[in-house]
Amino acid sequence: MSTPDKPQFLAIIGGSGLNHLSILEGAYRRFVRTPYGEPSCPMTLGSICGHPMVFLARHGHGHTIMPNEINYRANIWALRKLDVTGIIAVGSVGSIHPVLGPGDLVIPDQLIDYTSGRPGTFFGSEPDIDMHVDFTHPFDVSLRERLSGVADLLGFNLRDGGVYGCTQGPRLETAAEIRRLAGDGADVVGMTAMPEAVLARELGIPYAQLNVVANYAAGIRESAQGIEFSALGPVLEEAMCKVRLMIETLVGCKMPA
Ligand code: HPA
Repeated sequence: MSTPDKPQFLAIIGGSGLNHLSILEGAYRRFVRTPYGEPSCPMTLGSICGHPMVFLARHGHGHTIMPNEINYRANIWALRKLDVTGIIAVGSVGSIHPVLGPGDLVIPDQLIDYTSGRPGTFFGSEPDIDMHVDFTHPFDVSLRERLSGVADLLGFNLRDGGVYGCTQGPRLETAAEIRRLAGDGADVVGMTAMPEAVLARELGIPYAQLNVVANYAAGIRESAQGIEFSALGPVLEEAMCKVRLMIETLVGCKMPA
């Protein structure tokens, strides 16, 4: 769903490795109250090359909120209250697919929800919400195309498409669970795309995921005996530099030479 008649006002939801967006100019924080309780943190508003943007740290500014305890409804409701026209949700994932390795970028086009017990609908508490919202294609096609176009422009190797398996966390998966996810067709595994994606869909906000592969998932390749966390920091840091460049290019101010 796109909104061509409205001026663009994109929101970035940052996950592990992206707790603030230093490229925002004139940034200030605004706390948004919601009927669902507190969002993860105050919204950071600012602009990039004159284009207004808002940033939300999904796990809180200090990265203290676990994936299963994030108040997804408050976060998405607050972004709707600010009248954003689209959400790019950045998140780190583990790779299940043999060709995806640490540092790679992925724009998934499908997802499977393995979470449980997370409040996952606005139906019944917000007006005009369909009980059975269409979710055949969970991610916004136009935002996905814009993201992959920007990656092409920048010469970044990015996988366009793939299935995101969303697990409950906060623990990582067992090797058998990852085998099951692979059998189900999942390419990457993360903990935060749901119910974030469906809540955005219910409120009619175009939403796409931009994922950074932090590690091989449990039992796969280098993670055959366990996931080595000391290696994750530098990988995420380098990949998040690419994510920032993609955001700047997407809003139109950093064109490659
Ligand atoms: N599993 C689930 N979520 C993740 C992983 C993982 O291996 N890596 C980064 N986020």
